[in-house]
Amino acid sequence: MCGIIGYIGGGDAVKTVYGGLKRLEYRGYDSAGAAFLTDGKIRVYKKQGRVEKLYPLLDGVRSRIGIGHTRWATHGVPSDTNAHPHRAGGIAVVHNGIIENYAALKAELISDGAKFVSDTDSEVIAHLLLKNYNGDLTEALFKTVKLLKGSYALMAICEYEEKIAVARYKSPLILGYGNGENFCASDEPALYGLSEKITVLEDGDLAEITAKSVKIFDKNFKRAERETEPNLAVSASLGLDGCPHYMLKELRETPLSVEATARAFKGVKDKLVSALSGVKRFVFTGCGTAYHAALCGKRYIESFARIPAECETAGEFRYKNPVLGEDTAVIAVSQSGETADTVEAAGLARSLGAKVVAITNSHRSQLTRLADVVVPVAAGPEICVAATKSYTGQIAALYLLAAAVAGEKFYNDCAEKISKTPALISATLESLDMRSLAHICASSSGVYFLGRDLDYAVALEGSLKLKEISYVPGEGYPAGELKHGTLALIDVNTTSVVIITDKVLAEKSENAIEQVLSRGGKVAVITNVNGVRERFSDLPTVVLPECDKYLSPLLAAVAVQLLAYKAAAVLGREIDKPRNLAKSVTVE
Ligand code: G6P
Repeated sequence: MCGIIGYIGGGDAVKTVYGGLKRLEYRGYDSAGAAFLTDGKIRVYKKQGRVEKLYPLLDGVRSRIGIGHTRWATHGVPSDTNAHPHRAGGIAVVHNGIIENYAALKAELISDGAKFVSDTDSEVIAHLLLKNYNGDLTEALFKTVKLLKGSYALMAICEYEEKIAVARYKSPLILGYGNGENFCASDEPALYGLSEKITVLEDGDLAEITAKSVKIFDKNFKRAERETEPNLAVSASLGLDGCPHYMLKELRETPLSVEATARAFKGVKDKLVSALSGVKRFVFTGCGTAYHAALCGKRYIESFARIPAECETAGEFRYKNPVLGEDTAVIAVSQSGETADTVEAAGLARSLGAKVVAITNSHRSQLTRLADVVVPVAAGPEICVAATKSYTGQIAALYLLAAAVAGEKFYNDCAEKISKTPALISATLESLDMRSLAHICASSSGVYFLGRDLDYAVALEGSLKLKEISYVPGEGYPAGELKHGTLALIDVNTTSVVIITDKVLAEKSENAIEQVLSRGGKVAVITNVNGVRERFSDLPTVVLPECDKYLSPLLAAVAVQLLAYKAAAVLGREIDKPRNLAKSVTVE
């Protein structure tokens, strides 16, 4: 994890690196730091906390060469000392990834006399660079990466040469080109407004960047040619549009996300259907919120196309020696397309001969490079760490994918139904008043989200969202399983939020309400089923518009997301950047 950026050229390295770090902050915000070459000396500035904490330290710093880092801690607590860049002698380095063999390397370097100051795995890279340096930083980097096990995107500068040396393996890294200046960064948004053309480096690549030239090398240190592509990052990522938080702004963009995703789907439908013809089994995978969307995908393909399907978190799937073959399709769901577990799961599926479909909000990512077909989620940039509109966009894409596999007529019906959903979501967002329920949840010792079938998938997401941003504990649980475990946790201090959008299963979920009430627990109901509201008229009830049962998750999702948002606001949490989390988890 972490975000990194580098600049070399005739312009202001300090301004560029700082601006890039602000745009990369979604990748981690435990600490931020930068190293600049000024008057032949490397100077390092770093600070625990948000990127803005770095700002005062950079006052008056002038440089034309610099590298920066925003951290999501893996090895070593968040602190000034553990912040990147790390340096050894006249060399400084920033690292995104994990060095798995760092302990052995560190022991060897210490026995050679190296002095370590941090608890990070990354500091070994600085010492290895110094040890391997023989007048050429790029060559030193090549010798160094040969010794590393794990994942890395690296940028190094030194006092002896005016260049940035970079390398990548399993962590993203791009190059950007300007006039008399060049850039390197973790992703395209970091170079928004700076570089219209980019190159995505491949695993094992290195590059040597000066103000006037960029040389790329393959894993054998042979000169390599890589494609130059337009930078597709869009500017929309930076404004709050009058909302107090990105989460609220993005939640309000849900109708647009669903509408744009359905429109974009038309462009890939034929390719997708042809790639999936003859598939006898589907495996859906993803992490976090994307996994919860994947659960809906599994349900859609089973119901619409009657094809067997499984769903597993990518972190489990990739290590279970899965049974896959040419007649299996693996549908990998990821907002960023960069989540390490999801990318590895998709790579494994491909290597075993399965078809790989990426459902992603990122036009160009590790996942899109691996996939046979990319089904776009057109949610637009999502800044808040907690996913909102990308989740609903993913559900829309999965709904249409399953419908398309089920046949032309089925697809046309579903396309018609989903075209009416954005208006229903807008109506839901306008009508919801979550204030009192948010206060109840915020003061509960635990909040349990219960549901059956698709409502269970939304219950998992509701619970995750609440935990992520409000830190109120709880879990999402199948309503039928309540009596086999979670019921033991119910008391007067807990709240259960029961989601009921399936008429057929309504009565069954109502049983769960009774069971919680009879143990003294508080209950709230989210429903669009006639009769449920009337039966529990004395309970706090959130009423959703009536809607096709397979599209109800889109409405229930905005309800639980808004509830989590309001509860976090009641508790005064830092909603867009919850503690210990990051938006894109590029490490295991
Ligand atoms: C992180 C984020 C979650 C997100 C998950 C998967 O854990 O905090 O909000 O759902 O990664 O991210 P992806 O980009 O693969 O959808």
